Amino acid sequence: MRKLPADLDPRVDVDRLPRHIAVIMDGNGRWAKRHGKKTTEGHEAGTEGVREVLKGCRELEIPCLSLYAFSTENWSRPEEEVNSLFQLMSKYIRREIDEIKKYGIRVLFMGEWRELPPTAVKDLEYCLEQTQDNRDMTVVVGLNYGGRQEILRCARMMAEKAQKGELLPEEITESLFNQYLYVPEFPDVDLLIRTSGEQRVSNFMLWQLSYAEMVFLPVLWPDFRRKHLWEAIIHYQQRERRFGSRLDGADPHSSEFNI
Ligand code: IPE
Ligand code: IPE
Ligand code: MG
Repeated sequence: MRKLPADLDPRVDVDRLPRHIAVIMDGNGRWAKRHGKKTTEGHEAGTEGVREVLKGCRELEIPCLSLYAFSTENWSRPEEEVNSLFQLMSKYIRREIDEIKKYGIRVLFMGEWRELPPTAVKDLEYCLEQTQDNRDMTVVVGLNYGGRQEILRCARMMAEKAQKGELLPEEITESLFNQYLYVPEFPDVDLLIRTSGEQRVSNFMLWQLSYAEMVFLPVLWPDFRRKHLWEAIIHYQQRERRFGSRLDGADPHSSEFNI
């Protein structure tokens, strides 16, 4: 039985929760500026937002969460900022690993994360290994991730198979394509949340977002708290998901998945 938080917003309908939430964690830089701090301090403060979203999703037993932590485009930022982000990730893993394990969270990564600096890769591998048997919730973190790059990678892998005569063009279906994604077993996104007020997807999960409901919140990521998660879920629940059809509540994407 789910033990709901005592302070949960009563407008959240716990029988109609999204099963996959994706979050574009944005606004660390603006938060730092607003507080007269360095950008790196803004990222540091952003780890509080990560704690909150993990806690909030876990409490509601949302099984799948995707977090955008570093995009393929973020390499164009100053080297000092990029390096500090990787150091912060390592620090976060070491500091939070026990809590993550206590929550029963399995952490996976998507993107070309093995191309990050070796120390960061080692810490990410440690996190993978430490959480690999957990099944209460799966959190996929986008690191050196780009939605277009993910689609291109699928196309290349399928082309290689076709070249070897192991795949026919007519065998390429949506479900086959899904098998080539970074995390093939993950379902489509139901709810996309972006903080900071920006209203764009910035190359995040382009394939998986196809029928996601999008909620853009003005809060800056370091200020994100569980109440913002609840607010986004309330917006989501007020929408009518149609999937192109006229039938209420029909969800052609609700096929079984195995996390
Ligand atoms: C999001 O915050 C964190 C990352 C992209 C890593 P930003 O650093 O983009 O914050 P703003 O958009 O400059 O406020
Ligand atoms: C998207 O945020 C990437 C992450 C949150 C990791 P950005 O701040 O990099 O995106 P743009 O530049 O506003 O599109
Ligand atoms: Mg930003």
